[in-house]
Amino acid sequence: MEITIKKSYEDMSKAAANIIADAIRQKPDIVLGLATGSTPLGTYKELIRMHKEEGLDFSKVTTFNLDEYYGLSKDHTQSYYYYMHKNLFDHINIKEENIHIPDGTACNVEDYCSKYEQQIKECGGIDLQILGIGTNGHIGFNEPAEKLFASTHLTDLTEDTIKANSRFFDSIEKVPKKAITMGIGSILKAKKIMLLANGKNKATAISHLINQNYITTKVPATFLKTHNDVTVILDEEASGFNKNCCKDCCKE
Ligand code: PGA
Repeated sequence: MEITIKKSYEDMSKAAANIIADAIRQKPDIVLGLATGSTPLGTYKELIRMHKEEGLDFSKVTTFNLDEYYGLSKDHTQSYYYYMHKNLFDHINIKEENIHIPDGTACNVEDYCSKYEQQIKECGGIDLQILGIGTNGHIGFNEPAEKLFASTHLTDLTEDTIKANSRFFDSIEKVPKKAITMGIGSILKAKKIMLLANGKNKATAISHLINQNYITTKVPATFLKTHNDVTVILDEEASGFNKNCCKDCCKE
């Protein structure tokens, strides 16, 4: 695992955007796995700048998003479909038909999830997967649990995640309780993975990922230790090991 610590969120975002841009220049028809949330916003902003000012070309790029809230339609302002268009796709020259985001209104969810996996496979697999990390160590919406799912599936969100994401909704009651998410196996199949984290509230989860030598379903991100090409880019706050962690998952 390669770990880079940057001074600020802006520096982290620029470093991540540079890696993505280099990958696109090397392979114009790259398949990118994309994340939502606050973390990648600066990276997307920088990619938009690179497109507008430096001609970074997305015309052959294909994307697969990690997850979507279950029950939200595309036009809901908190759907990840809406987020991705507002924060990236509407400002670059990606083709709409090359964009894949799980459909939060899918009826036969099991079938839908297998088709999503199949589509990834048919596109040749994900070349570069971008990830954030939850304060509880989730990646995508693979939440801490007794068992983790390998492929794309419908999942219940934990109270931690509902609380953390309520900042985007009018009230906590409005946060969806379920989501469609790629599984841990879907993520680990990516050829290269880049995880970004900023802010001190991510320090404990990051410490599990980089300082502990074990894998646990209680901190799903620890499964990234089994992948042979993971780059972690942090700001200084996220890199600080929190010695006072009192969570059960820290006790050996
Ligand atoms: P955030 O979310 O980027 O909004 O902190 C990350 C995540 O929950 O995976």
